[in-house]
This record gives sequence, structure tokens and C-alpha cells, in this order.
Amino acid sequence: MRRAIVRGTGHYLPERVVENSWFEDKLDTSDEWIRARTGIERRHFAAEGQRTSDLGILAARAALDKAGLAARDIDAVIVATSTPDLTFPSVATMVQAGLGMTRGFAYDLQAVCAGFVFALANADAMIRAGLAERVLVIGAETFSRIMDWTDRGTCVLFGDGAGAVVLEAAEGAAGTSQDRGILATDLNSDGQYRDLLYVDGGVASTGTAGYLRMQGNLVFRHAVEKLADTAHRALDKAGIAPEQVDWLVPHQANLRIIEATAKRMHLPMQKVVLTVADHGNTSAASIPLALSVADAQGRFKPGDLLVVEAIGGGLAWGSAVLRW
Ligand code: ACO
Repeated sequence: MRRAIVRGTGHYLPERVVENSWFEDKLDTSDEWIRARTGIERRHFAAEGQRTSDLGILAARAALDKAGLAARDIDAVIVATSTPDLTFPSVATMVQAGLGMTRGFAYDLQAVCAGFVFALANADAMIRAGLAERVLVIGAETFSRIMDWTDRGTCVLFGDGAGAVVLEAAEGAAGTSQDRGILATDLNSDGQYRDLLYVDGGVASTGTAGYLRMQGNLVFRHAVEKLADTAHRALDKAGIAPEQVDWLVPHQANLRIIEATAKRMHLPMQKVVLTVADHGNTSAASIPLALSVADAQGRFKPGDLLVVEAIGGGLAWGSAVLRW
């Protein structure tokens, strides 16, 4: 059975690190509040002039190096982002050009914080359908560009960064859930909740980029309920019991949401990859960043079973089950 396996991971974080205390003299907030309510301690912000594609290119190069591949070996590039350099062309085509890749195809996918999971499902389907042999799946964001720096309920939460994964077609020997690669995906959205989390500008409305607006406590409630649900659905599709999971690699929005989801999945926190303290919420970049950081630390062993899950604006949410 043809599967999409992970051949390599990579990431890039901008040099500038901003600690929680940076916000204290600008807003009515504190390091203690941010840590206690979110688990975030610091985040990276892109330098002036540094664009989402710049971050994506550096993450992509790192993933290609790790995979031992060149840009010419890649058939498709998908960039999950909500903070593109320009309205068009896509960030993906800019990454393609930046890598010196002149064949294949590239496009962006926008499902906000769930973007990487949606892109992974897209790439998996393309590989299994024979449309591509190797796909570079990237999550890249510069959310610092859409922050309202007077809104303490949002601007302390987000950071910039990029993560990338090289997926490659492989024949699974067993044709079962023992095979390496993506075993199942589960995607969902419900536009009736679009006002809970959105950006108040855009090409066809205000003609501006706008600022992020969020009813945090309502998003929180949906996240706790929907993330465990989608993870359980993907595990069911893969025919795997939750206790067989070795690693949960969640979207890194809020430590309390991650803990609640792990609890609902009956997973101890030692099985959860956490980067939220150092990265904040990097939207579509958060899962590939966490995958790459944990991979670089040698935490995943061949054959380990991973679950990734995310929720974001839309609302849009989903999960994937994969064997490392
Ligand atoms: N510092 C101090 N106080 C603050 C801050 C801050 N930075 N932010 C909010 N508060 C205050 C509020 O004003 C409120 O005060 P009030 O009671 O006087 O009105 C109080 O803290 C409680 O506010 P809540 O919003 O109820 O706080 P909550 O415990 O829910 O935490 C948070 C807020 C951290 C935003 C949380 O709701 C959360 O993480 N929500 C989910 C975010 C998320 O997962 N988003 C999904 C992905 S993002 C994407 O798709 C782009």
C-alpha cells in the first residue's frame, strides 16, 4: 500500500526573542498572568523586512538537508499560512524560487492554525493518488504583522516562525497500521463560528491587512472539546487504540488546552511535545516546528506512533495519525 512517509524535518525561528516581561510596560499585563494562563514564556518576532517566505525558505532548506535531498527532487510545495508576503503570488511559489526549484508545482493553503494539518492531509492524498512522489509541506507565519499591540488578550499569545516536513511515497510492506507514514487524517470546519477568531481586514472588505480579533474564552472551550474528538476519529480510522500513541504533537496555542486534550486522550504529559513556552502560538507553523524540534532532539524512534492535532480560525480543526 502506497503511503506518505516523513523523510526529513526542519525549522527556522527569527533571531529576535521577546520575553513576556517586554509587554509589561506597554500593556496592563504581567509575565505571571501570561505564564499561568497560557504556558507561554517567550516568542520570536521576525525582523523588519523579513517576510513569511524568508522563514519558509530557511525551514525548507533545513528539511531538505535532513532528508538528504535537493530541491530538484521535490514535486510539490504546499505552504500553510495566513500571513502571506503579498495577496498573490503564493508564498509557496516564492519558496519554490528561493530553493532554485524550477519544476513541479507550489501553492498556499489557508486554514489558519489548522493549516499544517490540512496541508499534510492534502499532501498525503496527492502522494497516495500518484500526483507526486515527494512533497515539501511547510507551515510559515509572521503573526506579529497582524497583532493589535493594544489588545492584551491577543498580542501576548503569538509568535513568528516556520517548520517544514518532506513527505515521500513509500510502499508499506504490511498494508496495515504497522506501516510507516501517514495512517489516517480527519479534517473539519464550521463557518458558523467565524466570528470567534478572525482578522478584521482583507482585500475584498477593507483593502487593508487588518488585525487579529479573538473571543479567547469561547475558542478555548471549542478547542478542548473538538481537539480530542478529532484525534479519536483519526485513531479510529487508523484502527489504533489511544493507549498505543507514543507522541501527541499538538498545535501550541495554550498549555491548558494541550493538558486538557491529553487528559481526554488518557495520555500522560511525558508523551506530549511542548514548544509553546519558547515559541508562543505560531499558527500553521506550530506543529511542524514542534515536530522538527523534537526530531532534532532524537525523541522520535522509528516505528513510534504520532498524533498531530490543531484548531484555528473558521473554526477549522483536524488531526493526523502517522508512524515515524
Ligand atoms: N494580561 C492580563 N490580563 C488579561 C490578559 C493579559 N495578557 N488577556 C486577557 N486578560 C484578562 C481579560 O481582560 C479578563 O479580564 P476581565 O475579567 O476583567 O474582563 C480576564 O483576563 C480573563 O479573560 P479570559 O479571556 O476569560 O481569560 P482566559 O483564561 O480564557 O485566557 C486566553 C485567555 C489565554 C486567550 C485563552 O482564552 C486562550 O488561550 N484561548 C484560546 C486561544 C486559541 O487556542 N486560539 C486558537 C488558535 S489561534 C488561531 O487560529 C489564529
